[in-house]
Formats: sequence, structure tokens, C-alpha cells
Amino acid sequence: MSYRSVFRTDLFGGQVAVVTGGGSGIGRCIAHELAALGAQVVVAGRKEEKLTAVVAEITASGGSATHHVCNIRDEAQVASLMQSTVERHGRLDHLVANAGGQFLATPDAISLKGWNAVIETNLTGTFLCCKAAKSAWMGANGGAIVAIVADFWNGMPLMAHTSAARAGVSNLMQSLALAWAPLGIRCNAVAPGTIASSGLKNYPPPVVAMLSEFKTQIPAKRLGTESEVSAAVTFLLSPAAAYVTGETMKVDGGSSLYRQMAPVPDHHRSTAFDAFHLAADLPELPGVSDT
Ligand code: ADE
Repeated sequence: MSYRSVFRTDLFGGQVAVVTGGGSGIGRCIAHELAALGAQVVVAGRKEEKLTAVVAEITASGGSATHHVCNIRDEAQVASLMQSTVERHGRLDHLVANAGGQFLATPDAISLKGWNAVIETNLTGTFLCCKAAKSAWMGANGGAIVAIVADFWNGMPLMAHTSAARAGVSNLMQSLALAWAPLGIRCNAVAPGTIASSGLKNYPPPVVAMLSEFKTQIPAKRLGTESEVSAAVTFLLSPAAAYVTGETMKVDGGSSLYRQMAPVPDHHRSTAFDAFHLAADLPELPGVSDT
């Protein structure tokens, strides 16, 4: 059995793609789909065993993949990832900047060290990957970049660090789209909602249970799949998106329109401001007039 992509099997024939964070979860799925569409895929990440396992899976499915151990927070390692990809495979057409990570904590519980670590991985690491891909190949030959972000639009009170970083990456894609348009490099992002992915295993069981309960608050009434994120990435990398750059595409079943992950508890700490001396005929609104 092979990957059941909706895209044609030779879409990326003769092309090369780097997928960071390709050893598990959404990145692993994207690596499989791009390989199934003919790309030579370089899966990158920190843990060699996970990367070699994905390379073996892709090879067993008839695709072509190699791995490269890389910490995206380290500029020299990122440069080596992109340069060695070009040396080994002759080109670098696509970058999927998927690697990232965070931990659950209220804003008050995030230390400076924890904050910096999450910003460095998600925002700075993505910036380093984009810059190195441009230097190694895309600046002279063009290319397409897709960064994986998150559903950050209404803030994330239990992951403020990653919410800020992902919003930063979305904005970074707009800056890079403008700066690098003359070089033929398109830069976009995909913002997954709550996805049933192996990444969920990084959270404690009660949190995972809570996340699956979120489905009642998602218009689609279910969690998303890794393949649904991968299909959006594939589209944005493909020539079908040749006129799309600087865009962040939501793949979230409508959740960003609808729900707040951490409901605000009841409180009486918001004092109404009432300056209008001729205010008249106001309705009695509980909670406004009875402060
Ligand atoms: N996945 C999570 N954090 C990472 C990092 N710093 N480098 C590469 N892949 C990662």
C-alpha cells in the first residue's frame, strides 16, 4: 500500500525537499506524501533513530529519502543541512519548516529560559532554515517554502510562548515573500488546528483527553488528520500555488472561527467606563449596570 495522495504521482519528480521535524507526526506524514509524489526527501531532526525509521518506511514504500541530524537552533548545523542536501542531491526545491516544540504552562509559569527556548526553536529556528535554504540553492534558482505554524489567532493562554512564536513565523513568511519574490521564492505557512497526530503523545493523558473533547467546539466536530495538513502543504509547494505567496492557510475544521481553547472563568474584575452624561433609554444589562 502506498500514500493515497490526491496529487499526481510525478508532481515533484526530479525535485528535492527538506522536511524539518520529519521524524514524527505531521512532518513524517508530509515526508511520505512528498516522496510518494516523486521528490527526493531529506528528513531532518534531532533524533537519528526516528529519522532512519522514516527513511526506511519511505524506501519500503518505493520512495527516495535520506536523513540529516540537525538542531534547527544551531546556525552551523542548519547551514550544513542545506549545503549537504545540495551537494548530495544536486538541488533544493522545497523546504517544509515543520520542526517546532512547546510545553503547556500558564504565562506566569513560563520562565525566561523556557520562553527563550520556545522562541528559539519555533521562530529563530525557522528563520535560520529559510535563510540557509536561500543561501544554499533557492536564492539562485527559486523554490518554495512552507512553514507549519498553529491556530494562534485568538492567543493561547496555556502556550503563550508558542502562540507568539507561530504568529511571528506567519508574519516572517510575509516579509520573506516580499523580500524574496524577485528571486522566485514563494513563502507560505499552514496553520493546523487540533490534529490527531503522534505529537499529541507529548502531552499528559488528561490533556490529550481534554484535546479530544475539543471536538465539540470545532465546527467540523472532529480533530483533523495529518494527511489534511500534508495536502495543504503539498498544494502550496506545487505549481498550482504559483501565484500564492505570503499566505497562511488554516487547516482547522473552522475552529479558529469558533472556539476558545481555555475558557475565561467567571469574574468581576472588569469595571465599566461610563462617561456619557446624557445616556438615556439604556437597557438593563446584567453584568454591565450591576458593577
Ligand atoms: N524538533 C523540535 N525541536 C527541534 C530542534 N531544535 N531541531 C530540530 N528539530 C526539532
